Amino acid sequence: MPNYLCENCGFTDSLDKNLYFCPKCGDPLTIHYDNSELKAKFSGIGVWRYSDVLPVNKDKSVSLMEGHTPLYKSLRIGDSSGVKKLYIKNEGMNPTGSFKDRGMTVAITRAIEQGFRSVLCASTGNTAASLAIYAARAGIRGYVVVPDGAVALGKMAQARAAGAYIVKVRGNFDLALQIVKDYAKNSGDAYLVNSVNPFRIEGQKTVAYEIVEEIGVPDWITIPVGNAGNITALWKGLNELKRLGVIDKMPRLLGVQASGASPIFKAFINKSKTLEPLSSPNTIATAIKIGNPASWRRALKSVRESGGIMAEVSDEEIVRAQYMLSSKEGIFVEPASAASVAGFLNASRDGLISKDDVVVSIVTGNGLKDPDSVGRFENHEIIIGSDENALRSVISQ
Ligand code: F0G
Repeated sequence: MPNYLCENCGFTDSLDKNLYFCPKCGDPLTIHYDNSELKAKFSGIGVWRYSDVLPVNKDKSVSLMEGHTPLYKSLRIGDSSGVKKLYIKNEGMNPTGSFKDRGMTVAITRAIEQGFRSVLCASTGNTAASLAIYAARAGIRGYVVVPDGAVALGKMAQARAAGAYIVKVRGNFDLALQIVKDYAKNSGDAYLVNSVNPFRIEGQKTVAYEIVEEIGVPDWITIPVGNAGNITALWKGLNELKRLGVIDKMPRLLGVQASGASPIFKAFINKSKTLEPLSSPNTIATAIKIGNPASWRRALKSVRESGGIMAEVSDEEIVRAQYMLSSKEGIFVEPASAASVAGFLNASRDGLISKDDVVVSIVTGNGLKDPDSVGRFENHEIIIGSDENALRSVISQ
């Protein structure tokens, strides 16, 4: 049987209990399989294709067909940066429009297995949307705790449409996470499905399995980093594939934060063993506006083990990459997702990523979630009168 493992201090325990954090050192727990438990027999499509390496019962899965997202070959961004083999893994094509669904299908399945009637999360928006929709699918109650006034419109609409209870806090995401962590510690009536829940990580690791099945092992994978669950999951998936003998080399990871919310980047460049949390993170990429990321230690470990780096990008670079993705590739993503491509552009410009490298940039959320951010793009809107000649003058310009 797989068991809980603390990668920081080595604590282990059985999956019979519902644990999130290590009772000894406080780090989020991981689910560990020994080598005889890892099986490389995959069948079906999407997240549940990998059910042999998921710690829940596939037959009882609460699923909306998550995963199996498109991996596009870049047609223009790669070329313009000189890197011929850039691929974009579009996680915005998941059922609720973000990668969270990979983890949520597994976490909600676990909640049902354990008999919970309520699930809970803190969120910058996408986890809330995903929780709400999957709770609706499962027929249980969803509670989402969000920073008041700091969540993109589309995400709030999804949570509300799904009938979730929306609790707004006067503070940022870090405060919301602290509140739900305290609640989950002291009350056992709602299952916490933030990425500090190790079952979430299990679902999210399947993105690594998909990439490897699609194109083998790239030289680099770039990924946006907020609370740092997703980079942890990606690295876990890659490690399992190596242990399974499916792959014999590892990619380097480029974890990208927004410069107004980049405590993990700062710890990386300072070669620090501790994290200096930010009390007032700020970025246009509201999904990753996080000052005290829960999985910072595992993110640093992943990047360092891979021989990769943490980077930060400015809001201007994020918006530029977002507009490039939509206008030059036909891939409309939300700002946090574009951080991944902005990080790629800087790294290839600086020669860190070389021209012959195979690169996968993971884009994490759909652009429709955050319509306001488009206000920063070039604007080609023109108002004309009612006659055809006015239209002719626009088209012939
Ligand atoms: N990209 C998007 C679109 C996100 O919504 C998030 C996180 C990330 C990247 C970063 O992933 O936190 O695992 O490092 N969103 C969380 C939420 C915090 O509440 O929806 P991470």
